[in-house]
Amino acid sequence: MELRDGLVGVVTGASSGIGAALARELAAGGMRVVLGARRRARLEDVVTSIRESGGVADCVETDMRVEAQVERLIATAIDRHGRLDALVNNAAVGYLRPVADGRSEEWRSTFETNVLGTLVACRAALRHMLPRARGDIVNVTSASAHEAWPYLAAYAASKAAIYTLSRALRAEVAGLGVRVMTIEVHNAATEFGANFDPALLPVATRRWVELGLLNPTAGLIMPEDVARAIVFQLSQPERASVHDLEIRAREN
Ligand SMILES: NC(=O)c1ccc[n+]([C@@H]2O[C@H](COP(=O)([O-])OP(=O)(O)OC[C@H]3O[C@@H](n4cnc5c(N)ncnc54)[C@H](OP(=O)(O)O)[C@@H]3O)[C@@H](O)[C@H]2O)c1
Repeated sequence: MELRDGLVGVVTGASSGIGAALARELAAGGMRVVLGARRRARLEDVVTSIRESGGVADCVETDMRVEAQVERLIATAIDRHGRLDALVNNAAVGYLRPVADGRSEEWRSTFETNVLGTLVACRAALRHMLPRARGDIVNVTSASAHEAWPYLAAYAASKAAIYTLSRALRAEVAGLGVRVMTIEVHNAATEFGANFDPALLPVATRRWVELGLLNPTAGLIMPEDVARAIVFQLSQPERASVHDLEIRAREN
């Protein structure tokens, strides 16, 4: 399936992993993309690689925890291209920690980035999309949103919040021309676990396997696999909506 011509999209968390792969895939499909994340140098690398392949891309250094920066990211897309057709809320953080050892600053960062950041970005995009009665929002969630993954409680709760807010938002705006979709990811080969406590990771992994949440012999999916699935959602004719998509390794 192909994206409609002339679209403009914002991807948050586009400095690595799924967001970077998605920005490349969207640009290859002809979408003009504006990328947000905190690591400017990494964002610029992605923008350069898109431009070298003939795509149109810009980036805005954005911390999803800072409302004005999120507003500026969305405004940049509209100022530069005169429209905004798609917003993919992909930026997120998660920490591996038992609740009993929980660190308030990690919980705060998790909810401010994943949940509040998504809400603020949705609000900014909707101010543009609703008057035009068109636009797509895709929010990235996780298998942990509805499965019981020990040591990821705050992250899982933030993803459940994103899933639930997406459903409620869909009910608010579907009749007004805006599609709201989610994609649930299980286990992808990215930098996401880079900040996980290395002492706890083997313990957590063992437990996840015991609980049947993770097949240790299954391979990982790649960021590009998730990116293609999101492009599939965004490529549907306006009358259709792939509300909630789930992607995981074949043997998971
Ligand atoms: N990988 C998996 O197995 C998996 C499983 C389930 C769900 N997911 C979801 O997939 C999405 C993408 O993650 P990934 O796997 O591609 O991991 P990743 O490579 O770590 O990407 C996360 C992105 O979020 C950005 N980010 C984090 N905090 C931010 C903040 N405060 N402000 C702005 N951007 C921020 C990071 O950029 P900066 O650090 O440059 O800001 C980075 O670009 C996330 O929503 C994650 O929850 C991943």
